Amino acid sequence: MREAAEAFRAERLITEYIVSIIPVLLGAGIPLFDGPGPAQPLRLSARARIRAASSSSAMKQFSDACERNREPILQVLRHAFADRTSVLEIGSGTGQHAAYFAPALPHLAWQPSDVAETCRASASGAGGADARLLEPIELDVDQPFPAVQADAVFSANTCHIMSWPQVERFVAGVGKLLPEGGVFALYGPFHYGGKPTSPSNAEFDAWLRNRDRKSGVRDFEAIRDLAAKRGLALEGDNAMPANNRLLVFRRR
Ligand SMILES: C[S@@+](CC[C@H](N)C(=O)[O-])C[C@H]1O[C@@H](n2cnc3c(N)ncnc32)[C@H](O)[C@@H]1O
Repeated sequence: MREAAEAFRAERLITEYIVSIIPVLLGAGIPLFDGPGPAQPLRLSARARIRAASSSSAMKQFSDACERNREPILQVLRHAFADRTSVLEIGSGTGQHAAYFAPALPHLAWQPSDVAETCRASASGAGGADARLLEPIELDVDQPFPAVQADAVFSANTCHIMSWPQVERFVAGVGKLLPEGGVFALYGPFHYGGKPTSPSNAEFDAWLRNRDRKSGVRDFEAIRDLAAKRGLALEGDNAMPANNRLLVFRRR
């Protein structure tokens, strides 16, 4: 690994460095490179403050899944949000999605949000390097939504963390917030016809319910019908890696 990294750097083939600060260093650490390499001009493209402490094992300090799913999600958002101007993200968590999508979709103002505790601890600091990436705001679906002007809403991996009544409030809030033509993109695992789409989703659902019996992977049909009741018509159901889906709704 180290030799490969060194060889790539010597050939100036590394186009992106993700710099993370690890709060606890064991021993001298394991350097990735042998020492200072050739000078290479770098541009700061985005920054995100990662959670310093996590009270829930469902929310890690750094989400590997975010790193893996961000590009396939972006491909769908490029199309779904092509004519949008401002996005409210709900349940931004670590802020990694916001930090990746905002610079990649520069026609949009990207507003991350989360519940107060997570917002303070993790998503805060997402804004700054990119003017279109706004400072996170507090949004708890159990409370009235803040007055945000947005013609699109994005949310990833939130419905299975929330209880069903919270999911109902979440979708109602989105329906109320979005103007006619507004787009709601919802990413996550879903069951279809009451059944998991893979053994890994079945295991994930069992793990979720064991940890918090109010949480769990939601039925696609229940989400679709709930959204329809709130004026959000399903426009797309996109397959994503690891048996996830990206559902796209439009406000009628
Ligand atoms: C599994 S994390 C997903 C984070 C991020 N979107 C991602 O894909 O990595 C679930 C997120 O939902 C948020 N959340 C939980 N309850 C919420 C609520 N009542 N209102 C708003 N967000 C909530 C959590 O704080 C957390 O950031």
